[in-house]
Amino acid sequence: MIYRKFYSKFYDLVYFKKNYKKEISFLLNLLKKKQIKFKKILELGSGTGSHGKYLKKLGYDIIGVEKSSQMIKISKEKNIGFKIYNSDLKKFRINKKFDLVISLFHVINYMTKKTALNKFFDTAHYHLKKKGYLIFDTWYTPGVNFIKPSKRTKIFTNKEFKVVKKVFPKKIDESNFEINYKFNIFNKSSKLLFKFFEKHKIRHFDINDLILVAKKKNFQYLSIHKQLNESKPSKRDWGAILIFKKI
Ligand SMILES: C[S@@+](CC[C@H](N)C(=O)[O-])C[C@H]1O[C@@H](n2cnc3c(N)ncnc32)[C@H](O)[C@@H]1O
Repeated sequence: MIYRKFYSKFYDLVYFKKNYKKEISFLLNLLKKKQIKFKKILELGSGTGSHGKYLKKLGYDIIGVEKSSQMIKISKEKNIGFKIYNSDLKKFRINKKFDLVISLFHVINYMTKKTALNKFFDTAHYHLKKKGYLIFDTWYTPGVNFIKPSKRTKIFTNKEFKVVKKVFPKKIDESNFEINYKFNIFNKSSKLLFKFFEKHKIRHFDINDLILVAKKKNFQYLSIHKQLNESKPSKRDWGAILIFKKI
């Protein structure tokens, strides 16, 4: 299980520098330039709801799906203004159709098995209207191979806590990593130190492989972009954004 109680509790603090608002306006501009119109959005792996809350504020009709009940708990405390279903996206089915399916911040990289990746596209396809769009970001193989996951330590603080996050990546094979997270949480008022640990299995994708799987699942590939920039990613980019159309 990933994103359990404690990682979820500190998730927004750890990613406080991530500019969700800017990411959403970049995506909206990109989709506007492509003359892609939409109103109803399904978000797969919506986490604590930080992308969706901006879309909701802008008047879009959005629903989320998230496997971690603890992430959903945090989203509720934030008053994000939209519903997130607690479900594994691979199995998720509701009787509603959407114009756009989004899945942001490397959710697809948790689909480490071929069957899981197939199901990711099945779920998106099932919930899209005819000629609906799918947009997601992914760890980008040329970038990951060039930059290489490395050990790192980062410190985050707020009024209550000092969080030390240590990341230990372990290469499993050509496409898969085991990312070990070790957290030391120092409560500033009680002076107590608390530790926890999570192991995430993450897979990066060769874009041509991904396009092939998507094609088999009846998606037409439209374009690839850097994150926050319309141009194509290079080996210096860790991530890439892809857009597909349901056929
Ligand atoms: C890096 S977080 C991104 C969360 C959110 N999209 C954001 O931008 O902050 C990846 C999220 O994907 C969720 N996730 C991973 N596998 C999933 C699955 N099979 N079904 C639903 N959610 C999943 C995790 O629980 C986690 O919340």
